[in-house]
Amino acid sequence: MRVPVIAGNWKMNKTPEEAAALCRALLTHLDVLDDREVVLCPPFTALATVSEAIRGTKVVLGAQNVFYEDSGAYTGEISPLMLQALGVKYVIIGHSERRQYFGETDEMVNRKVKAALQHDLKPIICVGETLAQREAGVTETLVKSQVDKAFHDIAADEAKQVVVAYEPIWAIGTGKTATSREANRVIGMIRGTLGEIYGDSVAQAIRIQYGGSVKPGNMAELMQEPEIDGALVGGASLDAESFARIVRYDD
Ligand code: PGA
Repeated sequence: MRVPVIAGNWKMNKTPEEAAALCRALLTHLDVLDDREVVLCPPFTALATVSEAIRGTKVVLGAQNVFYEDSGAYTGEISPLMLQALGVKYVIIGHSERRQYFGETDEMVNRKVKAALQHDLKPIICVGETLAQREAGVTETLVKSQVDKAFHDIAADEAKQVVVAYEPIWAIGTGKTATSREANRVIGMIRGTLGEIYGDSVAQAIRIQYGGSVKPGNMAELMQEPEIDGALVGGASLDAESFARIVRYDD
């Protein structure tokens, strides 16, 4: 049985003070649920605050990016060692905003995934097509290639630690969600690709989330689909009540 992961991607929002307030509100709404994992991914500057705020709870800490070197002359970057030292357990890698605005390539994503795994951070690898790619009918080819490249040279026992987030770019922050059936279909295809690389039993163990305009009103339906193992939530994770309802699969 795969344990679903529901991760809140706060993106470039919340000062440490605001982050502490959001955590307090969230913890009053959030039920402790043993059958799912909840991850909060604040900006780097609020990691220490959130780490403190969730101490002793079942909520775990995630980061939104990582560099692939441990230390050195890389002005502005944050290493996996630094994240690990703050109690970070998950790290989002290759989010479409990083690919689009910061030039992240599949090769960089792969290096970051390897570096994260070396330091016991679980990568949440984001893949997904643009609207133009969807309309051109290349969704499958594109997503398959992103998955193949992200997992290049990653051993099977490490691959099991990885979470994949299928986020169609046209659904991010737009209010447009892929239908749950369509999300399930593409996620099934991603699992098929992982099966070709690692075999069926490893592919069955890897968790694959859906992301893109997830909100309380569509989470329950998404979670009824057999291939969907949770969600990567942007906008709705900034509101304590909405995020708590998403975590409960509550409409
Ligand atoms: P959204 O963002 O929920 O605001 O669409 C999702 C994401 O970018 O991870």
